[in-house]
Amino acid sequence: MEQKKFYITTPIYYPSSNLHIGHTYCTVMADAMARFKRLTGYDVMFLTGTDEHGQKIQKIAQEHGVSPKEYVDEIVGGIKELWKTMEISYDDFIRTTEERHVKRVQAMFKQMYENGDIYKGVYKGRYCTPCEAFWTETQAVDGKCPDCGRPVEYAEEEANFFRLSKYQDRLIDLFENNPEFLQPESRRNEMLSFARQGLEDLCISRSSFDWGIPVPIDEGHVIYVWLDALSNYVTALGYPDDPEKYDKYWPADVHLVGKEIVRFHTIIWPAMLMSLSLPLPKKVLGHGWILLEGGKMSKSRGNIVDPVKLIERYGVDALKYFLLREYTFGHDGVFTNEVMLNRMNSDLANDLGNLVSRTVTMIQKYNDGIVPPAGKEEGPDKELKEMVLGAAAKVEREMDKFSFSTALEEIWTVIRRTNKYIDETTPWLLAKDEANKERLNTVLHNLAESIRVVSVLIYPFMHTTSTKIRKQLGLWYADPEWKDTQVFDLMDGEKVKKGDAIFPRMDIEKELSELEEMNEENKPKKEYPPIKDIIQFEDFDKIDLRVGEVVACEKHPNADKLLVFQIKMGDETRQIVSGVADSYKPEETIGQKVIVVANLAPRKFRGKLSSGMLLFADNGDRYEFVTTKAPHGEIVS
Ligand code: ME8
Ligand code: MG
Repeated sequence: MEQKKFYITTPIYYPSSNLHIGHTYCTVMADAMARFKRLTGYDVMFLTGTDEHGQKIQKIAQEHGVSPKEYVDEIVGGIKELWKTMEISYDDFIRTTEERHVKRVQAMFKQMYENGDIYKGVYKGRYCTPCEAFWTETQAVDGKCPDCGRPVEYAEEEANFFRLSKYQDRLIDLFENNPEFLQPESRRNEMLSFARQGLEDLCISRSSFDWGIPVPIDEGHVIYVWLDALSNYVTALGYPDDPEKYDKYWPADVHLVGKEIVRFHTIIWPAMLMSLSLPLPKKVLGHGWILLEGGKMSKSRGNIVDPVKLIERYGVDALKYFLLREYTFGHDGVFTNEVMLNRMNSDLANDLGNLVSRTVTMIQKYNDGIVPPAGKEEGPDKELKEMVLGAAAKVEREMDKFSFSTALEEIWTVIRRTNKYIDETTPWLLAKDEANKERLNTVLHNLAESIRVVSVLIYPFMHTTSTKIRKQLGLWYADPEWKDTQVFDLMDGEKVKKGDAIFPRMDIEKELSELEEMNEENKPKKEYPPIKDIIQFEDFDKIDLRVGEVVACEKHPNADKLLVFQIKMGDETRQIVSGVADSYKPEETIGQKVIVVANLAPRKFRGKLSSGMLLFADNGDRYEFVTTKAPHGEIVS
């Protein structure tokens, strides 16, 4: 019988900066799935890589004063190092700057051109560089990218277009009639309505910069980075010139992607494949985001959670377990140190760690370390055995749905049940009376078998821990096999040997404060300007400060950053202009009692007179009024 195959991919990440915990989340899921499929008998192809072209990378390299290639080489080195540390079992790592990729993307471009799907035109519209995405004027509401909310730039350049519109009906049909193709359901509905609104032809070449794959039919143009990047899923398999792996593994069983790039994977990518007459991937899964309490993780906000730091402290398996167990596939989830530490302590140190150490200790103490055969079944034996032997099927069922969290929960149900079994059967009491020896042996046997099955079940998620447990069980000579989850008598006569605690218990309060300290050290230090030269009181006394109350406020008609305030001070109301439109909505300011520099010489801002100045404090990403409770008109001194 031919072996079943399974092809899984992660997004190829931008090497624009080091990866954070959000990226590792996706890769850890893909790795667990790849290992699970290998363990359950599949021939697996697991692909990851880096997306190295485009305007964003060119720009950031420029800022660092190095060539794009130099820049990405360094970051990609770090990414590969990270995956090595995390023991990610990818079968191939593709870089889009590799020759194998470049020539194949060009061949695909040419093929689409020859099929009549590419034509020349002029692009006029908006571009979001962080997302590398084109938007029409109507899509870019208020000049912001509808995906990430950052400002878009106007772009006008000669370009090649792909006839995306031609594939609109087939895409709508795909979403309507093939619910398996895109999950979760909410994303499918979103894409369906996006496609129904009408798909415009897609600009697929750029001519205003040059860091990209040259368009084979048009000098001076580089291929649009998303066309380049999406192709990786087949170029890594050798398509079109070396199709052996392609024939074996394509179509992909699943593209695992974050929800923000589902659109590229379920509209642009299928349309490209349709143009090339290639089969579509079987499934695209859009996972949710890991958020920090203050919002999304981002380098610019300085709130990145560095996976390397966490691994140094807690180990790879603890981090992987936490990511897979804590978050529900398809939903966003919040990361906090406290949630992470509690999860590690309760599930790993308490439940799993205790079970292993208690069991091995008792077998050593009560039976010279030898696992005894089972005697008569009684009490909770049957229930335990059925639960242990039934777990593999439940894990398979959950993994089929990519429900990593529930799959692990099924395993931990077994672990907790086994701990409870110890409490119920009280081996330490049985050991007091030789007459109970057979019963004691049965209990020890059942415990050893349960843990052995657990060591197989957790293998795809935390193989190092699995191996540690199997060493303690004396099974160091045998690799875990999935079929071994179906038997309950493999251990008789094995010699167990106690090792170190597989997960030491942590003092959470202490950990939290140390993490906090580490965080402070890592924060980019803010530089404040030096205090200005000393002035005399007479100098200060020239400034007339008063309390003013905002009675009206509107946006400046001709300047995005300015607000025009009407400020009441005693009997007088005057107009003052301030550059705080990014910090306040006009209506939020009404009624604020603020400090006014009342005798500053008046001046005009874009035609609006400003008589005086309002005081604000810089609070990081926004300005805040300096406020008071004193009534308007009062003197500030
Ligand atoms: O989009 N939470 O690359 P990218 C969860 N090069 N997952 C997160 C995350 C977070 N906070 N942040 C990032 C690109 N991710 C393109 C892809 S594919 C042909 C080209 C994960 O470096 C998530 O999987 O911006 C997301 O889709 C991916 O990283 C985006 O990585
Ligand atoms: Mg991104």
